[in-house]
Amino acid sequence: MKKPILVVTSRFIKPIEVRIEKEYQVRRKTDETLFTRDGLLAAAEGADALFITPSDRLDANFFERVSPYVKVISIYSVGLDHIDLRAAAERHIAIGYTPTAVTGATADVAILLFLGASRRAFEAQELGRTGEWTLSRSGALLGWQLTGKILGILGMGRIGQAVAKRARAFGMKIHYSNRHQLPQEKAGDAVFHADPLKLLRVSQFPSLHAPETENTHQFLNAKTIGLLPHGAIVINAARGGLIVDSDLIAALKTGRVAAAGLDVFEREPKLNPGYAELRNTFLLPHIGSATIESRTLMGMIALDNIDAVLTGKPAPSLVTAHTE
Ligand code: DGY
Repeated sequence: MKKPILVVTSRFIKPIEVRIEKEYQVRRKTDETLFTRDGLLAAAEGADALFITPSDRLDANFFERVSPYVKVISIYSVGLDHIDLRAAAERHIAIGYTPTAVTGATADVAILLFLGASRRAFEAQELGRTGEWTLSRSGALLGWQLTGKILGILGMGRIGQAVAKRARAFGMKIHYSNRHQLPQEKAGDAVFHADPLKLLRVSQFPSLHAPETENTHQFLNAKTIGLLPHGAIVINAARGGLIVDSDLIAALKTGRVAAAGLDVFEREPKLNPGYAELRNTFLLPHIGSATIESRTLMGMIALDNIDAVLTGKPAPSLVTAHTE
C-alpha cells in the first residue's frame, strides 16, 4: 500500500524518526533550517499531512493557500498560539496537538524556576564557577523560602494543577485564577479568584500557566505588576507574550519584583537583552517539555493524531471548539 505523504519541519528523537520513516513518504528540508511560508506551502502540495513545531507559524494566509489534499496538521506542542485555528477549521483541516504529554515535565520546570529565581541560582552558579567564591559569609546570597508563601497560578489547566500539586509539597499556599472555577476534587484547598487582578494582589509567586490568547497577551505589564505584593517573584513557563518584557525588566531593576524565573520569551530563541543583563533573573531556553519521556510521548501522540485522521479512527487529541 502507498504510504501517505508527510511534510516534517523538524528533527525529532530516534523513536519518532524511526516511526516517521517507516510509516510515511517524508518531505523535509535537508539543511535543518526552518521552512519559509512559501517553502512550506510548496512542500505541502499534494501532501496528506504536516508534522510541525511551535517554530512554524501558520496564519490565515497559509490556510487560504495550502493544498486541498492536506487533511491534518499535527503540532508537536500543547500551545496553539502559533496557529490560526479558525482558518484551519474553515479549510476543514484537522489540527492535532499534545496536551497530555507535557504536563509533568513542564510543571517540574516551573518548580526549577521557583527555586532558581528565589534562591538566586544564577548568582550562586556564577560564584561557584568563576573561582570568586572565597570565605562563606552568613549574609551572602540570601534568597527567599517557598514555604508559607502564596503561589498565584494564572491558568489552572493540567499544568497549573500539576504545579499546585508540587508546590503544596513545599508548603506553599495555592491561589488561582482560571476561566472556570475547578470542582472541589481538583481544586483541593486552592483559593479561586474569578478576577485575575485580584489574584495578582495576593501573589508572592505569580506563576503563569495560561495559553497566550487575545485575552492573556501582555497580561503582566506595568499596571498589573503594580498590583503584586512588593518583592514578588515572577514565574513564566507558559508563553513569553504574556509579559511586557520592558515593564518586567524595569520592575526587576528597582526590586519592585525581587526576581524572575523565565523559560519562555516573546521572540524566542532571541530574548530581550535586558533580562540577561540582570542578576536577579533565572533564565532557561524553553525546556519545559524537554525530557526524553515527554518528547517521546509528544512525538508518538502527534503521529497517532495523523494516523487516526488519515485512517478515519478516533484521534487521541485533536483541537475542538472546546479547546479553542
Ligand atoms: C508546548 O508544548 O507548548 C511547550 O511549550 C513546548 O513548546
